[in-house]
Amino acid sequence: MTTLVRGGTVVNHDYSRRADVLVIERTIVAIGPNLDPPAGADVIDAGGCYILPGGIDPHTHLELMFMGTVSADDFASGTTAALSGGTTMVVDFCIPSPGQSMLAAYQDWRRKAETAACDYSFHMAVTAWNRQIFDEMEVCVKTYGINTFKHFMAYKGALMVNDDELYHSFSRCAALGAMPLVHAENGEVVYRLQEHYLGAGITGPEGHAYSRPPEVEAEATHRAIMIASIAGCPLYVVHTSSREAHEAIARARAAGKRVFGEPLIQHLVLDEEEYRNPDWDHAARRVMSPPFRAKAHQESLWAGLQSGSLQVVATDHCAFTTAQKRIGRDDFTKIPNGTGGLEDRMTVLWTAGVNTGRLTKEEFVAATSANIARILNVYPRKGAVGVGCDADLVIWDPEATKTISAKNQLSRIDYNVFEGFACRGLPRVTITGGKVAWHEGDLRAEEGHGEYVAREPFPAVHVANTAWQTLRAPRRIDRADVSP
Ligand code: URP
Ligand code: ZN
Ligand code: ZN
Repeated sequence: MTTLVRGGTVVNHDYSRRADVLVIERTIVAIGPNLDPPAGADVIDAGGCYILPGGIDPHTHLELMFMGTVSADDFASGTTAALSGGTTMVVDFCIPSPGQSMLAAYQDWRRKAETAACDYSFHMAVTAWNRQIFDEMEVCVKTYGINTFKHFMAYKGALMVNDDELYHSFSRCAALGAMPLVHAENGEVVYRLQEHYLGAGITGPEGHAYSRPPEVEAEATHRAIMIASIAGCPLYVVHTSSREAHEAIARARAAGKRVFGEPLIQHLVLDEEEYRNPDWDHAARRVMSPPFRAKAHQESLWAGLQSGSLQVVATDHCAFTTAQKRIGRDDFTKIPNGTGGLEDRMTVLWTAGVNTGRLTKEEFVAATSANIARILNVYPRKGAVGVGCDADLVIWDPEATKTISAKNQLSRIDYNVFEGFACRGLPRVTITGGKVAWHEGDLRAEEGHGEYVAREPFPAVHVANTAWQTLRAPRRIDRADVSP
């Protein structure tokens, strides 16, 4: 299939220029002014529009068994929703069930992802520490192309790992050329606060926010950064939601540490007032971890994106229906944690970021695709409009408008946390792997069109993270780094 995108302005993270884009099959083959369409090519008009690299959402949980239920969007509905909003790649978390091997979990996720309409990749979760995990991490890196390992510092009694486990796993990442990711909240303290508020008779969704104050996030973020420094690996902090956590990341970066921070689009525009809503359903639908914060935190997150101390905007799309949320009707600790956002991330960020002057259109590209492609080692195949890059493109109409409503969404849940948000700036056309998946409101996504994206390990210089460690003896990480 040959497609010529004509009459638009190509926007990359580092430059913009007026150019046409020629695509053959899954690849961009030419970029330049006034390209002639080859015989038989489809011609797509991009007049008045920007041609952006397709969005990459590095944080999704599609069809995830979590807190006693399964997230409502699977790879079919989740990636279709993503494409309608201009996202052309998702990175989902492979989370082994208790005692399950990583290799079996990987195979489960590959099966689940067979219906994906856009390209996808995986992070692997480390939820314990033992010899098998040590060995299987190597298979993940060398055979499966997974160069990122996720660690939950919260969810005590379920996914949480302790400092010993973090240290061993981070050290293993360093040896394998991989990067750890952390959900940074102090799960022990959260657990005690949950007990405290339940004991005080607070059972509603506001108890969720009370029990997860910014301090638990800040402490865990700082601790993870220090453990990564000791282990000699970079670190990626998912869903950075508070000023204090952002400051810990900014401090680390100022000290030369390779630490990355990922605010979510939800935390950038929604705040803790949502939990004060007297409608239980309204508040419970917004229960996620970390919770929405006081407005002041949003300014810090925006400043981080503007200054570069935070790099990526994701969604943590983990959508539960209202009926699923009601599992926690009498106990906020049982409300399944998670919200949606896959189809809204790009337009909400453009509206709240670019239209307000906080971000340039190039910085928008950096935050939605280019930076994460570089962080995950898939740039410039992904995250760029360039010759030889994958043909994942968004023809972005900066003047198109819509008001977000669950009534029109593709996600399977029955509400939208951005309900009523007035957007200006939307995808006119989304192209994924050379195929038009969204065309002026016409959904043409094809289940199964997406391909798995394997990612190479990082070069030693990236992983070593040692620029600041001038007085440290070199340390070889080997099989001795396994807990007895
Ligand atoms: O509340 C959230 N964030 N749910 C999804 C799982 C996680 O912690 O990322
Ligand atoms: Zn998390
Ligand atoms: Zn998550």
